[in-house]
Amino acid sequence: MSSLCGLSIVNYLTICYYNHKKVHQLIKKRIIVVNGRTVRTPKEKVAETDEVTINGGKTAYQKCHYFLMNKPKGVLSTTENRSQRTVISLLDPQDRYQGIVPVGRLDKDTTDLLLLTNDGQLNHELLAPNKHVAKIYHAKIAGVADSNTVKTFATGMTLGDGTKLKTVTFNVLKQDVENGSSEIEIEISEGKYHQIKRMFSAVGMEVVELERVSMGKLRLPDDLKRGEYVEIDVDEIK
Ligand code: URA
Repeated sequence: MSSLCGLSIVNYLTICYYNHKKVHQLIKKRIIVVNGRTVRTPKEKVAETDEVTINGGKTAYQKCHYFLMNKPKGVLSTTENRSQRTVISLLDPQDRYQGIVPVGRLDKDTTDLLLLTNDGQLNHELLAPNKHVAKIYHAKIAGVADSNTVKTFATGMTLGDGTKLKTVTFNVLKQDVENGSSEIEIEISEGKYHQIKRMFSAVGMEVVELERVSMGKLRLPDDLKRGEYVEIDVDEIK
């Protein structure tokens, strides 16, 4: 596990403290100070031993951690919830580092690959729409997905609320015309709210099971059971 991430002021502060946008705002406000010198550019370099203050308050350098989780059903991919279990509650207490968040959201009933990290810069890079990080899902569908469905999805459909989607790659793995069900593999590069469920709903079908198989090059180890997680190296992601 590499312990140090990039050390621009943005990288430094997006570990645990703030998101990318907020750090840029703080730089513009000229309230970040490194060893007594006001930071004026996001490119400013910071060493682990430097004293960094925000509005006079001291910060402490934190290590980045990356956990790959096999998310079970029935767990929210948020950081806090008063009445329901969250993916953070599945981490051992010693792994609940400050700033650890899931990278993107999976629905409560969606399972499998979920990355959790306190590396805000990497989180931003994996989710930014212009980075087009591919996410592959397997889904069981109530409905017969066929070549017409493939065509509709492949041309970049528009959802009922006007959301225009990018093209997606879509393969039918199994089709049971008698029972009206299918199994499919779908690759999307965006992460719109309930995207896959809404896509199928728009063509009159329902997603009954959804698993995320990969995100970029990341895949779950074969022996990682639902609810389990492993710490990985940042190089495995990049
Ligand atoms: N699309 C969905 O509809 N749900 C998810 O959890 C992920 C993608």
